[in-house]
Amino acid sequence: MGCELLPLSEHTGVEAKGVDLSRPLDDETRWALNRAFVEHSVLVLRDQTLTATQLRDGVQNFGEIFPQHNTRFALPECPEIHYLSNKDRYPDGSRYIPGAGYHTDHSNSETPPKATLLLAIKLPDSGGDTQYVNMAAAYDALPEITKERITELTAVHVYQSKHSARKLMGLTDEAKKNVPQAVYHPIVRTHPESGRKAIYINPIRIDSIDGMEETDALNLLHELLQHSIQEQFQYRHKWRLGDLVMWDNRCLLHKANGDYDHETQSRYLYRVMLQGDRPF
Ligand code: SIN
Repeated sequence: MGCELLPLSEHTGVEAKGVDLSRPLDDETRWALNRAFVEHSVLVLRDQTLTATQLRDGVQNFGEIFPQHNTRFALPECPEIHYLSNKDRYPDGSRYIPGAGYHTDHSNSETPPKATLLLAIKLPDSGGDTQYVNMAAAYDALPEITKERITELTAVHVYQSKHSARKLMGLTDEAKKNVPQAVYHPIVRTHPESGRKAIYINPIRIDSIDGMEETDALNLLHELLQHSIQEQFQYRHKWRLGDLVMWDNRCLLHKANGDYDHETQSRYLYRVMLQGDRPF
């Protein structure tokens, strides 16, 4: 059967037409979608009308499910699927906007998820886009001297970096038992499927660079982030209801935009992740 593919920008994003994830996919379609995902880093399927259980089953066309860390967001009827909502609040009563600020998901795991998928259930009338940054394109565009400087560096990732501008929702006591304290990952990682190198940084999770003085590390991370988030490396996804978007955490940063009225508007999405490999 296969499917029609429509690129969404020059470097990132592709829409696959004619796919209904509530039904079994034939081998050719599954192969084409997985290949398109690796090639374009963001795969968009429109008009997916899926229950949480159908989503859980359908995403296994792309890999095994990765258990998300913060179990407080798990759906009771299908705990593999979590939700994202602009209606949650921190314990102090202030509003929690999940995903604000550039990051890559769960990099504080030894084997971080290769992909995250969101399904749009409720959306604000406008705003709430997700911005992606292609970190392989950003790596390619670095000056050679910077590539040489960062090639052997390793960063320490934790649940919440002491330097993070964004406050995460606290883990449940149960979740704390399963979340690693600190893991080491290379700052330049090689994509296990495409072989492309990408900058692998995470402003909310990186606490330090191994063997580097703190100020130097923060300056370098800032420089790499500012370089990477330039307009030419971005793809901005404007959501439609029923969009299922799968992105590649191995070579992208992403952030949610909280640029809509949180009192009167709702943004609610299902979220699931897929197992990845140890970065190298
Ligand atoms: C996330 O960071 O996983 C969520 C991004 C979004 O809500 O757009």
